[in-house]
Amino acid sequence: MRFIYIICLLVAFAVACQQGSSGAHLTRDQRWQVYRADLQTQLGDKYGAPVPEINEQQLERGKELYTSLCMFCHGAQGQGDGPTGKSLEVKPSALADTLLASYFSEQARLQIIRHGLPGVAMRGWAGFLSEDEIVAVFGYIRTFVHAQSEDISHADH
Ligand code: HEC
Repeated sequence: MRFIYIICLLVAFAVACQQGSSGAHLTRDQRWQVYRADLQTQLGDKYGAPVPEINEQQLERGKELYTSLCMFCHGAQGQGDGPTGKSLEVKPSALADTLLASYFSEQARLQIIRHGLPGVAMRGWAGFLSEDEIVAVFGYIRTFVHAQSEDISHADH
């Protein structure tokens, strides 16, 4: 009897560990709420601070970095439709989606690029990329949303 009890405990523990290491059992809303709360704690007052303008040269560097490091998951136009992303359980986000792109603050998105997100395929790039390169690639993904909002405003006319 005691033996069965121990086995049950072990199984419960294994299941809990597995769930803890994968974000797949949560809906995106649930996952993102947890991420946002974590990032708010990590960044404190800095959470809502704007990220300064990023110049043309940095944007070009950002585009090169995006093309070689991010595009295969997040897609050429940031629609979340890159070839590798399709096979993942938790799909890469559509960086160009106006609503999703404003879910996390700009500082929070920078922090995500630095340190990644737990339980999903988004790794952190700090160490591999310099801080300048991280800012450059962030500047580039920010243009996806600007480009899309312009399209929308053109469509209105
Ligand atoms: C192996 C695939 C993969 C690669 C490569 C990758 N990402 Fe991600 N990314 C993801 C996944 C998966 C998520 C989480 C989506 C979710 O939680 O719904 C994510 C989330 C994000 C987010 C937060 C969500 C948002 O839309 O604001 C940002 C920002 C981001 N990635 C930027 C980047 C940048 C910049 C690069 C390149 C330096 C990159 N990613 C490379 C898979 C990837």
